[in-house]
Amino acid sequence: MPVLRQVRERFAAQRPLEGLRIAACLHVTAETAALMRALLAGGAQVGLCAANPLSTRDDVAAALAEVEGAAVFARRGEAPEEALDELVAWRPQLTLDDGADLIVALHEADALEDYLGGLEETTTGLVRLRALAAAGALHRPVLAVNEARSERVFNDRYGTGQSALDGIVRATNMLLAGRTLVVLGYGPTGQGVAQRARGAGAVVVVCEIDPVRALEARMEGYEVMPALAAAERGDVFVTVTGVRDVLRAEHFQVMKDGAVLANAGHFDVEISLGELRALAIEPPVELIPLVEEYRLEDGRRLHLLTGGRVVNLAAGEGHPAEVMDISFAGQALAAEYLAGDGAALPAGVQPVPDGLDVEVARLKLEALGVRLDALSADQQAYREGWTPPVAAPSPAPGSAP
Ligand code: ADE
Repeated sequence: MPVLRQVRERFAAQRPLEGLRIAACLHVTAETAALMRALLAGGAQVGLCAANPLSTRDDVAAALAEVEGAAVFARRGEAPEEALDELVAWRPQLTLDDGADLIVALHEADALEDYLGGLEETTTGLVRLRALAAAGALHRPVLAVNEARSERVFNDRYGTGQSALDGIVRATNMLLAGRTLVVLGYGPTGQGVAQRARGAGAVVVVCEIDPVRALEARMEGYEVMPALAAAERGDVFVTVTGVRDVLRAEHFQVMKDGAVLANAGHFDVEISLGELRALAIEPPVELIPLVEEYRLEDGRRLHLLTGGRVVNLAAGEGHPAEVMDISFAGQALAAEYLAGDGAALPAGVQPVPDGLDVEVARLKLEALGVRLDALSADQQAYREGWTPPVAAPSPAPGSAP
């Protein structure tokens, strides 16, 4: 993670986070540990708990817990509630969230006395935080790191695009070529999944509720149809919507025997597990680790991956380090910003300053050895200095010449 390393080296020299208590509720992976080490180098104390019980790497959690200044509350398979309480009791000044659980817990406990603000890295988390803000109940600024330009492109399109399929293939060892893969949701992550699935030889069908996105999917050459029509067609289904019950009884009832169901959205609500269980004639059987078979009355079998939890982290290792390098370097810089000028931002969901994004991209290009052009002073002046020609007012109709 060369970009994060550069940030960490600067942090070690400048100590911009000296003495700050920073709590994070993120996936406990090697990449997250590298982010924690950068924050520690900047002078912070860090506390970390797991955003998802199935993504925790116990070896990483144990190694990080050995580092001075780091407290880790995570064990694979354990729900994060108690750990969240520990972090709330610690009265963090900054938070990093993947799903908004920590920010919400701090607000619920009214533990905001030292709190400057937070960072949120998922669409799902931002939906919750915007709802909180609309209800007048979000009392600090939260930077929408998930909506930074670099994050949208790398994390969502390339990160989820590759890692969701990687999780599906690791869990099932299935060949994607020739299969019909249905992507439910064509936001930046769905676009990534669709693009990579097509690259792997799948026939890709997209389901979307937004007309502009649906049109874009169609123009990209995907088949676009309602979920109910797609349910009959698909061999593999991937939900990436941030919405609950996207696949439910009416869809399960018409799916093919052997259909594979995977969710790549943050929470395990996109595939209705309640309706799937209700339709099944017996409790699910674990065919192989992470693949459960639900048998329906007419003999059809549906295969649910990772219990409907985020497949790229629960069956794989999440986004590769190259992607998290960009994402987490951006978060380290965003934490520095919030600890400084950003703390004066009004309460609510706030955009990440563009300059910060540009800095991350610049460092990444440098690390890749890629050079780029720059405008000359003349070009810059041409681009910015255009003034509209001042036209003489034309006489009003019927007026004397
Ligand atoms: N989110 C997606 N992939 C991740 C990873 N490798 N580490 C932490 N968070 C992630």
